[in-house]
Amino acid sequence: MRVNFTVNGRQQEADDVWEGESLLYVLRERMGLPGSKNACEQGECGSCTVRLDGVPVCSCLVAAGQVEGREVTTVEGLADYAKHRESAHPGGGCASGACGTSLQDAQQWKAKGQDSQTGEGTELSPIQQAFIDAGAVQCGFCTPGLLVAADELLERNDTPSDADIREALSGNLCRCTGYEKILDAVRLAAARQGEVV
Ligand code: FES
Ligand code: FES
Repeated sequence: MRVNFTVNGRQQEADDVWEGESLLYVLRERMGLPGSKNACEQGECGSCTVRLDGVPVCSCLVAAGQVEGREVTTVEGLADYAKHRESAHPGGGCASGACGTSLQDAQQWKAKGQDSQTGEGTELSPIQQAFIDAGAVQCGFCTPGLLVAADELLERNDTPSDADIREALSGNLCRCTGYEKILDAVRLAAARQGEVV
């Protein structure tokens, strides 16, 4: 079957998709977007997390056929996505359900050239920069999934408590950092978000 969908603001189509093919496989093997990591393929580790119509999902558990006509955002498009949100909502942090990254807004957003598709050469999103600044990346395998999940948390809650952060990231496993620096990174990004006027 052919699947038409949007990835990081750009219309894409995948041909000859077989019934059991996952969204993760399509992203990595067909579209050359290896940011979403393939670790467990069972929905256990969260390393493959992407946003599907704005909602974080394990792309290894989503059948490619299910994304027909829908919007996918991967870590490669995260910086552009965050920038779009920032221009739609200066100061960041919008009330839950009232955010500018609705499906309609996402559909109006267009990626800007090849770099926006791969993420190369684009400015980092605030959460990406915070992960670097807080030293929350070691091997980096879990990082893309954590970034997507954390960014979504900060979109709907600009002052998350530690419990909120833990809950939002509870589906993302990391074998390296012991999580404390990851928590620091999300706290840092939230604090910086709060500073923007
Ligand atoms: S690879 Fe999808 S949750 Fe682990
Ligand atoms: S940084 Fe290595 S698994 Fe998280």
